[in-house]
Amino acid sequence: MALREIITAPDPRLKIKTQPVARVDAEVRRLMDDMLETMYRAVGIGLAAPQVGIAQRVIVVDVAREGEKPQPLRIANPEILWRSEQLMTSNEGCLSLPEHYADVERPAEIRLRYLDHENEIREIHCKGLLATCIQHEIDHLDGLLFVDHISALKRGIILRKLAKMKKSRVLAAAQ
Ligand code: NI
Repeated sequence: MALREIITAPDPRLKIKTQPVARVDAEVRRLMDDMLETMYRAVGIGLAAPQVGIAQRVIVVDVAREGEKPQPLRIANPEILWRSEQLMTSNEGCLSLPEHYADVERPAEIRLRYLDHENEIREIHCKGLLATCIQHEIDHLDGLLFVDHISALKRGIILRKLAKMKKSRVLAAAQ
């Protein structure tokens, strides 16, 4: 396994259209494992392939709490089969928008179909944090960030701050 670099917003690579994988082969499995390692190192609960510059429909998730047994999910070609009418608001963050959080409303429960790391079709019912996290990661596969769910005003503030932070990092590195 190897760590990959996490792309932070604003960046056009976070807006790309992703392609389904033909099948989960050794290369896709390696990507999933690298993404999990990268996510754990960054202390995140989910990561999508576009965040490491790969335009494929692959996500990894682990919502186990600290001290609990890890529950890694390796997911390719996720498909939401059903969404509850009941909504839930969560304060979301994202490894690509470091240090920014906002309340986002999404369906509270979903039914998900995907290919696992052995290329087997699986279906799971998700609620709570897991449902929120999976919907957030699937958004990444469609070029959406959690800030795309909030007002343009708040989104603008966050993205401008992140752009400024990036610029100052580039300047600092050049000195
Ligand atoms: Ni994210």
